[in-house]
Amino acid sequence: MAAVAGTMQAVSAGDHVVVADDLYGGSYRLFSKVLPRYGVRFSYVDATRPEEVAKAIEPATRMVWIESPTNPLLRLVDIAACAEIARRHGALLVVDNTFATPFLQNPLALGAHVTLHSTTKYIGGHSDVIGGAIVLDDEELFARLKFAQNATGGVPGPWDAWLTLRGVKTLAVRMRQHERSAERVARHLRGRQEVARVHWPGFDDHPGHEIARRQMRGFGGMVTIDLHGGAPAARAFSEALSLFSLGESLGGVESLVGYPWLMSHAAFPPEEKLRKGITEATVRLSVGLEDADDLCADLDEALAVARAAS
Ligand SMILES: Cc1ncc(COP(=O)(O)O)c(C=O)c1O
Repeated sequence: MAAVAGTMQAVSAGDHVVVADDLYGGSYRLFSKVLPRYGVRFSYVDATRPEEVAKAIEPATRMVWIESPTNPLLRLVDIAACAEIARRHGALLVVDNTFATPFLQNPLALGAHVTLHSTTKYIGGHSDVIGGAIVLDDEELFARLKFAQNATGGVPGPWDAWLTLRGVKTLAVRMRQHERSAERVARHLRGRQEVARVHWPGFDDHPGHEIARRQMRGFGGMVTIDLHGGAPAARAFSEALSLFSLGESLGGVESLVGYPWLMSHAAFPPEEKLRKGITEATVRLSVGLEDADDLCADLDEALAVARAAS
């Protein structure tokens, strides 16, 4: 979040920001509860339709903020199309690349001005350090953000920096395995009667599949599902898993299960969550590096518990 807040130092009172509405709840918290007090205005749009981004641009728009794939529904936003719109209007395009990682997607090469990562996730990779990174290739903007970073104190300690460097060295091998196991898990869950829907961009019929093929080098390690049986099923399922620990983070070697309704997306009002497609039956899986057969067996056992609870 220090990287998110640091990036926002690029805007000032009176400026307007267009934000993709399917975004991390913590970023939304900052944009909706903190920055408006400093006179920055935000408009939220469905950025899976770039024409909506274009429509929301105002003369005061200085930034467009997107994630892709999005958290938690793994929707795809066309980065090159958003970059073209932002550049045409003299605005910065910022891409939160936390889910994809630089191994799978390079937004700067697609025209973005700023790429941002929560390094807490795949880049650190071991769920033992919290941090963030801003990546850009513009000297003038770099100088402004670096000055703001120093002025506001979003600076990692040396031990945290060391842990992050240790993690990033294995990013490529971890991502290959995360992806292989996520595909296995996604296909396995798609065949289960307790699961109403599996969100995974690798499926041919995923609405963003073609964009993913175009702008990513793989589909990542996250799988989100909607269960039949509502909140009781989702709760029972999350608690019954034993290889997937219940936790808000993602991207570590150990598998995690998250419940966006009450955890990562708690900052959104219920009607907003429902409008986006996040329900009380939505469960997010960060597929770790454990044996994929063991993960599928664990999921099957928890689905049986969910069925009994619903
Ligand atoms: C997409 C995304 N961006 C930013 C963050 C914030 O990261 P951190 O917890 O490292 O502050 C998160 C955390 O879940 C995230 O999922």
